[in-house]
Amino acid sequence: MLSQQDLIDKGLKATLVDHPLIQHKLSLMREKQQSTAAFRSLLREISWLLCFESTRDLPLEMKAIETPVEAMKAPVLSGKKLAFISILRAGNGLLDGMLDVIPSARVGHVGLYRDPDTLQAVEYYYKVPNKIGERLVVVVDPMLATANSAIAAVQRLKDGGAVNMRFVCLISAPEGVKAFNEAHPDIPIVTAAVDSHLNDHGYIVPGLGDAGDRIFGTK
Ligand code: PRP
Ligand code: URA
Repeated sequence: MLSQQDLIDKGLKATLVDHPLIQHKLSLMREKQQSTAAFRSLLREISWLLCFESTRDLPLEMKAIETPVEAMKAPVLSGKKLAFISILRAGNGLLDGMLDVIPSARVGHVGLYRDPDTLQAVEYYYKVPNKIGERLVVVVDPMLATANSAIAAVQRLKDGGAVNMRFVCLISAPEGVKAFNEAHPDIPIVTAAVDSHLNDHGYIVPGLGDAGDRIFGTK
């Protein structure tokens, strides 16, 4: 696994959220004998922490309130409700935890799957909240491997008018971070780990296998 300094040395741009709780929970998720229920619930817990990090710069405004003791001006979130965009289907595993933290967020879905032969992203669904250009958009998917899926999803959102975006994932490959940085240099990546490399099938090594299958128990 790469450190934040390793990323800087390699010229890769990503924020590594390597809080000890995240590292511990991610190690449990990686274990191949982990049950579907445990995998899903660990992912949900990690996504709470990733949500805090990826929304660190949400704008605030001061609102007049009254506590039982006296009146005060208190900070509250300002602007349009933010939008979480889940890249189906594994993105939904991160989305659930994000919504625990920000229940009022709007939600969109971009349906993409990786063609197993070409590893190119194939779109099958797209539905996002209105006025997407006025919202902070947080795109979520647990895995950034070749980055073909994330690059396509973000491009689709840009074409639809989104401007203020970030991409949040659990595990990245250095190859994916590089490709995403090149395709979308304006979009920050927030990730819990950057692993060693991709194998010949485009899987992250050591990774955790197929995220969708492990979340939904489809294998
Ligand atoms: C997985 C994962 C990402 C994609 C990452 O989805 O959830 O969307 O692969 O790979 P990439 O960076 O090389 O594009 P998958 O295509 O397996 O679909 P699923 O979520 O429906 O299982
Ligand atoms: N998609 C996954 O689910 N896992 C990988 O390692 C790569 C792509």
